[in-house]
Amino acid sequence: MLSKNIESVLNKQVRIEAESSQVYLSMACWAETHGLEGVAQFMYRQSDEERQHMLKLIKYVNERGGHAIITDLKPPKTSFGTFKEMFEELYQHELFVSNSINELVHIAFDEKDYATHNFLQWYVAEQIEEEAQAKTILDKINLIGDDKGGLYLFDRDIQQITVRSASAVGKN
Ligand code: FEO
Repeated sequence: MLSKNIESVLNKQVRIEAESSQVYLSMACWAETHGLEGVAQFMYRQSDEERQHMLKLIKYVNERGGHAIITDLKPPKTSFGTFKEMFEELYQHELFVSNSINELVHIAFDEKDYATHNFLQWYVAEQIEEEAQAKTILDKINLIGDDKGGLYLFDRDIQQITVRSASAVGKN
C-alpha cells in the first residue's frame, strides 16, 4: 500500500512522463515539417517510449492501492529554431527527468518504501540510457556543424538508432 505522499509524488512523475511524450511528439512534428524525416521518426519513437514510461507508473500506482491521476498537460513548444537547438532541449529535458527520478528514489528511501525504491531502479537505468543517447547525438551534431551534406547523412543515420532502453530488456 502506497503512502499518500508516495502516491502524490508518483502521480507527479506520471504527469512528467506524459508531458515528455508530448514534447517529443511536438519535436517530431517540427522535424517532419522541416524535411528531417529521419529525425521525425526518431522523435515519434521517443514519444512512444515516454508514453510507456507513463503507463508503467500508472499501473504500479493502481496496483499498489493508489489511484493514478490523469491531468491536463503543459503545452509543449511547437518551434525549435534549429535541429541542434532541438536536440539540446531534448538533452536538457532528460537531465530534468533524471533529477526528478533521483528525487523520487530519495523520497522512497526516506519513507522506507523499499518496493517503490526497487520499482524506481528501472527508471534509474532508463535515464542512464536516455542521457547517454542524447549526449551521443549531440556530439554527432557538433561534429557536423553547418555542413548541409553532413545534416543529410545525419538525418539518414538517425533512423538506424533504435531507441535503446532498459525497456528493451525488461518490458513492463
Ligand atoms: Fe521517461 Fe525520457 O524519460
